[in-house]
Amino acid sequence: MSGGVEIGVRVVSIEQATPTVKRFSLAARDRSPLPVFSAGSHVVVAMDADDRRIKNPYSLIDRSADGSTYRIGVLRTPQSRGGSVFMHDRVEVGSELTITMPVNLFPLNRTGRKHLLIAGGIGVTPIYAMAEELARQSFAYEIHYAMRDAAHGAFADELVARHGDKVRLYRDDCQEVIAVDRILPHQPLGTHLYVCGPEGMIDAILKGGRAAGWPEENLHAERFLAPPGGSPFALTLAKAGITTEVRSDQSLLEAIEAAGVDAPFLCRGGACGQCETTVVSCDGELVHNDHFLSDEEKASGTKIMTCVSRLKGRELVLDL
Ligand code: FES
Repeated sequence: MSGGVEIGVRVVSIEQATPTVKRFSLAARDRSPLPVFSAGSHVVVAMDADDRRIKNPYSLIDRSADGSTYRIGVLRTPQSRGGSVFMHDRVEVGSELTITMPVNLFPLNRTGRKHLLIAGGIGVTPIYAMAEELARQSFAYEIHYAMRDAAHGAFADELVARHGDKVRLYRDDCQEVIAVDRILPHQPLGTHLYVCGPEGMIDAILKGGRAAGWPEENLHAERFLAPPGGSPFALTLAKAGITTEVRSDQSLLEAIEAAGVDAPFLCRGGACGQCETTVVSCDGELVHNDHFLSDEEKASGTKIMTCVSRLKGRELVLDL
């Protein structure tokens, strides 16, 4: 796949972490050590589900001390196009999958004087890896982790056991919220903030940071979006001379790949810009779901991010 070198892996253990989150341990099929990665990295997992190949990005939680396994956490989202449901319902110990090499689009800034880690829900997976790395290297940090209730705190116990009083937990069912206006003003100059979680939470935290006068370069967020489905439409790849259909449960990128064309990607979540593609023509409305193109670029109708965006119309022609 065009996210770079592939690694064939086998699932060696599965843990039901919460009612909706499973943690999977993956080992290389050839038993070789898995590549070292930096905190904040993700891999793209390819799943062969009946008549289609689904590829979803998942943050890496950790790598075992002997380098033989990675752990990822997967939230079951039944309204998605099927990847997380496939992981929960069809993948078992011994299942074989393919992953990309780790890529880091959410790295720690090592010049930071302190690191403020903020997570909501399954957004805790990269934050968990960051906390481990910061602790190993004796950096100053604190963790704020919001969850629906005690049963849905996929990493609450582990975080508290490993990071003690550096962890603050917030439960929706107890009306506890992360009060950025109280937390941010008391951080030393040079602190960096990292947030991963639901869209609304990320927006509120970043807004709080800006309101408190934090420089933009000290605010970091990971916003991977799941590509939404939609009505099917015809897709023509002008250079390849191929016309195919983008099904209602397929992303544009998945349809391109299914047609045998190797298209670039890194995040598959509308954040990195790698899949930016020139639109030759379209007879409907481009539905832009990414966080990468500017409003002007979206309005121009000349570019589309194939991993999360699609057409509301009959036919799209791309310069591929
Ligand atoms: S692959 Fe990253 S924006 Fe599409």
